[in-house]
Amino acid sequence: VRKIILDCDPGHDDAIAMILAHGNPGIEVLAVTTVVGNQTLEKVTHNACAVREMIHMNDTPIAAGCIRPLVKEIEVAEDIHGDSGLDGPELPVPTKGILEEHAVDVIINTIMSEPTGTVTLCPTGGLTNIAMAIRKEPQIVERVQEVVLMGGGYHTGNWSAVAEFNIIIDPEAAHIVFNAPWKVTMIGLDLTHQALATPEVRKEIKEIGTKPAVFVDELLDFFSKMYKKSQGFDFPPVHDPCTIAYLIDPTVMTVKQVPVDIELNGKLTQGMTVTDFRYPIPENCHTQVAMELDHAKFWGMIYDALRNIG
Ligand code: BDR
Ligand code: CA
Repeated sequence: VRKIILDCDPGHDDAIAMILAHGNPGIEVLAVTTVVGNQTLEKVTHNACAVREMIHMNDTPIAAGCIRPLVKEIEVAEDIHGDSGLDGPELPVPTKGILEEHAVDVIINTIMSEPTGTVTLCPTGGLTNIAMAIRKEPQIVERVQEVVLMGGGYHTGNWSAVAEFNIIIDPEAAHIVFNAPWKVTMIGLDLTHQALATPEVRKEIKEIGTKPAVFVDELLDFFSKMYKKSQGFDFPPVHDPCTIAYLIDPTVMTVKQVPVDIELNGKLTQGMTVTDFRYPIPENCHTQVAMELDHAKFWGMIYDALRNIG
C-alpha cells in the first residue's frame, strides 16, 4: 500500500483525486491538506470536508494550510471552479471538523513519524505548503519516497502562454519544490490534457448510479461548461487524479527523466516549467515529466474507485 499526503485545493478535479485515492485499495491517504488556489483557503478547506463527507472518508484527517502564496498576491480560478471552488452539485454539510494543527506541520510531522522512504507527497494545488514544509524541516526531503505533482507543462500553459495555474500562482514555492533534491514527477498539462471526460466516460460514471457517482457526474457537468466557455475544450481535462493514477499503476502513463526548473523573472514566462530535453541527461537529474496517458486504463481506475466506495 502506498501511503500518501494529498495536498490540494478542491476544486472539481481535486475532488476526483480524493475519490480515486480513497476508493483504491492500493492507496492509503494519511492526510488531506489544503492550500489557497482554486479558491480561498476557507472555501477549499470547506470543500475538502464536504467531499470527505460525501465519500465516507471519515478516518482521514484534514488540515488547512497556507492562506496566500509566498510572494504573489492571491489569484483564484473562479472561471473554472466557480464562486465556491466546487460549483455544480449540492455539497453535503460536513459533520467532522479539521485538525487544529497547520497543514505545514501535519505534512512535516507525518513524514518525520513514518519510516523513511514510505510517504509520497501528492500536491494538486499551488506548492506553497510544500515549500514552507521544506524550509521549516529540510529533513523531509530525504525522508519522503517521492513527490508526484500536478502542475506545469513542457509544451503548453493554461494561465499564460507558457505557464500552468498551480505553478504560476506561486512560482517561488514551485522553485523551492522543483529544486529540492528529491524525486519529482511532474504531471503537467501535456499529460492531463489527455485525461478528458468524454461522453463515453460520462455515460459509464452515470451508470454506476451511486450517490458519489452522481456527485462526480454533477461536478463534470459544471466543469465541462466552464472549460468549454473559458478555454474552448469540447470535453474537460480532469488533471489532478492523474497523480494518484500514476501511483496506483505507473504503466498508466509514460514518463521521461529530464531536468525541470521554474522561471521566476521572465516578463512573458514567469511560472514556466522550463524542461531541458537536450542530450545527455545529467547524472543527478531528479525530475521526470509525464507524456502519454492510457485513457482507458485511467478512467477504468476512476470507475473502480467509485464502485469500491459504493
Ligand atoms: C490545475 O489548476 C486547477 O484549477 C486544477 O485543480 C488543477 O490542479 C490545472 O491547471
Ligand atoms: Ca487542483
